[in-house]
Amino acid sequence: MHKHLIAVTGATGVTGQHLIPRLARRGLNLRYLARDIRKARQFLGNDVELVAADLDDRASFDRALEGVHTLYLNSGHSPALEEQQTNAIEAAVATGCARIVKLSGNIDSPAPIPEAHKALEAKIAACGLRHTFLRPNFYMTNLHYVAAGLKDGDTFTSAIPRDVKISMTDPRDVADLTATVLDEDSEHDGQGYYQTGAAVSLDEVAETFSRVLNRDIRYEMVDVDVWEDMVTKRGLPSWLIEHQVKMIGFAANGAYAYVTNATEEITGQKPRTLETFIADHALAFART
Ligand SMILES: NC(=O)c1ccc[n+]([C@@H]2O[C@H](COP(=O)([O-])OP(=O)(O)OC[C@H]3O[C@@H](n4cnc5c(N)ncnc54)[C@H](OP(=O)(O)O)[C@@H]3O)[C@@H](O)[C@H]2O)c1
Repeated sequence: MHKHLIAVTGATGVTGQHLIPRLARRGLNLRYLARDIRKARQFLGNDVELVAADLDDRASFDRALEGVHTLYLNSGHSPALEEQQTNAIEAAVATGCARIVKLSGNIDSPAPIPEAHKALEAKIAACGLRHTFLRPNFYMTNLHYVAAGLKDGDTFTSAIPRDVKISMTDPRDVADLTATVLDEDSEHDGQGYYQTGAAVSLDEVAETFSRVLNRDIRYEMVDVDVWEDMVTKRGLPSWLIEHQVKMIGFAANGAYAYVTNATEEITGQKPRTLETFIADHALAFART
C-alpha cells in the first residue's frame, strides 16, 4: 500500500464518483472527507475510511486532516467557494500536510467561479506546500442540464452561438487524470493541467445526439435574456445565472475552444469522445 495518506474531498460529486473506483484499484492509502457521512457511505461502501468534514467549518478540517500527507481539494460551485476552500487550505498548512492537489477548471475568465479558483491557486502556491492544479474544461455532464429539453422534445436550447466550439471533457477522463496525479506524487509538482476533449459546436452536439440516439435533434439558440428567463423558471439561483451569462459571453468569443493533450500525456489514453459519452448516458437523454 502507498505509504502516504491521501484525504479526498468531493467524492459524492460529478467527477468524485468516478474517482472512487480508480483510487481503490491503485491500492492507495485513502481517507475520504464528506459533510454528509450517510450520503457518502452510499457511494463509498463500508471498506474505506470516512471522516466528517464540512468546508464551511474550518475546525472540522483541522480534525479531519490530522496525519494526512496529500489533500485532494474539490468541491461544487458555490458563491462561498473561496471561503470554503480557504478553510481547507489553512487547515492543511496547520496540520502539516505536504501536498495539495486542487481541482480548479479554466481559471482565465473574469467570472466569479474561475476568479475564486485563481485566487485559491495563488493561496496554495504562496503557502509553500507542494501542489498540482487540475483545470478541466466544460464537463460533458453539463449536457444533462443544457439538453434537458430532450426529455420531452427534440430540441435543446442555450444562448451560445451554434457554430462556436467548446472543448468538452468527460468527467471520467478527469477522474483518470486525477487518480494518476494523486498516485504519481512528486512528478506533477508545480504543474497546472488544462484538460480537454475535442472541440465541438452545439450544432455538432445536436448531430451527435441525432446519430447516437437515432432521433432528429436540433439546437436552438436564443438571446441571453430569453435564456436567463428560461433558467430562472427552472430554479437556477441568480448568482449562478450571473456567472453563466459571463461564461456564455466568453464561450461566444471562442475562449473555450482550445484543445490540449493533457489526458493522453498523463493517463496514456485518448480522451473519451462526445459520441461515447452520449452513448453511455443514452437513457438519461431519452424521452420520458
Ligand atoms: N461543471 C463544469 O463544467 C466544470 C468544469 C471544470 C471545473 N469544474 C469545477 O469542478 C468543481 C466541482 O463542480 P461541480 O459543481 O460539478 O460539483 P460536484 O462535482 O458535483 O461536487 C460537489 C462536491 O462538493 C461537495 N461539497 C459541497 N459543499 C461542501 C461542503 N460545504 N463541505 C464539504 N463538501 C462539500 C459535495 O458534497 P455533498 O455530496 O455533501 O453535496 C460534492 O461531493 C467546481 O469547483 C467547478 O468549478 C466544473
